[in-house]
Amino acid sequence: MSIPEILVQKRMSLPKLGIGTWEMGGRHSPDKSEDQRFIRAIRFALEQGIRHIDTAEMYGNGHTEELVAQAIQGFDREKLLITSKVSGDHLAYQDVIEAAHNSLKRLQTDYLDLYLLHWPNPEVPAEETMKAINKLLQQGKIRNFGLSNFSAAQTEEILQWTDEPIITNQLEYNLFTRNNGRITEDVEAAIIPFCLSKGISITAWRPLMKGAFNPMQQPLINEIAARHEATPMQIALAWLLNKPLTLAIPKMTSETHILENITAANITLEEQEMRLLDGLVN
Ligand SMILES: NC(=O)c1ccc[n+]([C@@H]2O[C@H](COP(=O)([O-])OP(=O)(O)OC[C@H]3O[C@@H](n4cnc5c(N)ncnc54)[C@H](OP(=O)(O)O)[C@@H]3O)[C@@H](O)[C@H]2O)c1
Repeated sequence: MSIPEILVQKRMSLPKLGIGTWEMGGRHSPDKSEDQRFIRAIRFALEQGIRHIDTAEMYGNGHTEELVAQAIQGFDREKLLITSKVSGDHLAYQDVIEAAHNSLKRLQTDYLDLYLLHWPNPEVPAEETMKAINKLLQQGKIRNFGLSNFSAAQTEEILQWTDEPIITNQLEYNLFTRNNGRITEDVEAAIIPFCLSKGISITAWRPLMKGAFNPMQQPLINEIAARHEATPMQIALAWLLNKPLTLAIPKMTSETHILENITAANITLEEQEMRLLDGLVN
């Protein structure tokens, strides 16, 4: 089963489903104890046709990127789409340049397909950060750039300092987290409408609520799931992926989950089902 793609700015084609890597290889410091399991999971995902890997310099304090480098060995680099992120505390000019250099080294690659500002830093002027991003774009070290956890106003500010399009804004967004994210507020009410008006795609992080919701308490989801012969979690993912210009990057290490999520990326929900799910939480 293939993974649908959407065409965004610069005619870049983004797969609706990618694989997230937070907590593969450690959280804020490296943990190498399960490397082989995570490498196997990423390789399995790539073998099934997933080509977008989401990572960040912060994950495992760099070790997750090293793990991704091992997982992609033998795959055609040009077919992969690798996203990494520069931490919000590295947004000064020289810090961005060095962070990108270090990510490329750990990932053992010459370029990043997409480089995101992981979170905003009000102490560094957007002009300074964007000077570094524009430089990396000119040098071809990053092919595209985007944001993560930026409000509408912060996104607008970035737009003033580049002629390059912002490809995506990565935001905490799922069936039960609409406007009350840990970092961002008003995602559905304000940030998404603003981004879409500028052609900026939405990448949903934590799209599956870390696997934590109890579907048995949600008769509506169970009903829709039964209609599509799907699990409630597949419906939660399909709800996101049926939205305009929206993609998701669940973390998935079990082969069953990887296969289920690829199937979910191919579920078309009816308008009425979308409306009912939209209204589940406000
Ligand atoms: N930009 C940011 O600030 C930011 C913040 C947080 C995360 N992220 C990115 O977003 C990615 C995803 O977020 P997340 O890892 O926090 O949470 P998530 O993707 O919502 O949840 C991951 C959990 O869901 C389980 N799962 C996956 N597919 C499933 C399915 N079909 N049915 C049931 N359970 C399923 C996984 O289990 P198994 O592992 O056992 O398969 C894992 O325990 C991260 O990995 C990271 O790349 C970005």
